[in-house]
Amino acid sequence: MSPPLLRVRDLEKHFVLARRRIFDAPEVLRALDGVSFELAAGETLGVVGESGCGKTTMARLVLRLLEPTRGEIVLDGTDMLDCSKSELRRLRREMQIVFQDPLSSLNPRMTVGVSVTEPMRFHDIGTRTERVERAVELLEVVGMGPEVLERYPHEFSGGQCQRISIARALTLQPRLVVLDEPVSALDVSIRAQILKLLLDLQERFSLTYLFISHDLSVVKRFCRRTAVLYLGKLVELCESERLYREPLHPYTRALIDAIPSLDPTARSRGSLRGLEGDVPSAVNPPRGCRFHTRCPHRMAVCSEREPPLVDVGGGHRVACFLNQ
Ligand SMILES: Nc1ncnc2c1ncn2[C@@H]1O[C@H](COP(=O)(O)OP(=O)(O)O)[C@@H](O)[C@H]1O
Ligand SMILES: [Mg+2]
Repeated sequence: MSPPLLRVRDLEKHFVLARRRIFDAPEVLRALDGVSFELAAGETLGVVGESGCGKTTMARLVLRLLEPTRGEIVLDGTDMLDCSKSELRRLRREMQIVFQDPLSSLNPRMTVGVSVTEPMRFHDIGTRTERVERAVELLEVVGMGPEVLERYPHEFSGGQCQRISIARALTLQPRLVVLDEPVSALDVSIRAQILKLLLDLQERFSLTYLFISHDLSVVKRFCRRTAVLYLGKLVELCESERLYREPLHPYTRALIDAIPSLDPTARSRGSLRGLEGDVPSAVNPPRGCRFHTRCPHRMAVCSEREPPLVDVGGGHRVACFLNQ
């Protein structure tokens, strides 16, 4: 088997928060707390979990937009945390991100043309004319005409802005694209079009996707494998089809139960039935299994020790004492 395109090991990000009072010890927020996974070239891995569980932090770490506290990120055999500046610059070209809110990635004061050519300018690629030609080519690929170059982001709908952001992400011919809730801010009717576009682009340009979403129904259709994140920890990871058919972690089960039933116009997520309380704070996460405070099946051991993520067969990994 070929080595994975991306390998993440024990990745941690602890944010040191401002002290409330001068003599207080600084508080540490454990946004991501030891996450490991691999991503094969051409694959799509979904990452799901409630708001605040660390998905965006993980995306930003993988792209090195944030410095990790600890861990290893290896892209195509090169350790991104221990490489020369020039290597890092090269690796950065291989990875791009598409954000949830397309307006936040497109500068409102720049024309679409300037925004889309900006990554190429930054990496000193081509002449001005060549950059514009490439931008026009990619805008066409995402279904937008050359006339949009002179216009500003606010003149476009959310779906159109997301198409432009996707074109921009592709200008450097990346191999890995991190999609951080790419359709969550869009109308339901537009979501399917953007997802279809992403699938077409994946095939056309042999892209590898890390697809982040809080919407499990989208991930189920889009991703070959799915990872479930809870309070900065991976609690389950396996092939999507199997995860939805036989989820093993009580948290995954609650997330799947909360998928709105067959009503395609349902906008809101259902509440997490069967779970007690809210997600605890990442500043003082529960001891033992982080999920035990809300788990309907908790046992004595769950508040004492942390369940490791173990393979229960066929690459199905789960961190729960019920399965160990
Ligand atoms: N720059 C930051 N400083 C302090 N805390 C942060 C920062 N960025 C994110 N967090 C916290 O980290 C946790 C994870 O956030 P995030 O990765 O945005 O979650 P998600 O994308 O899953 O909603 C949250 O508790 C959030 O408040
Ligand atoms: Mg997020």
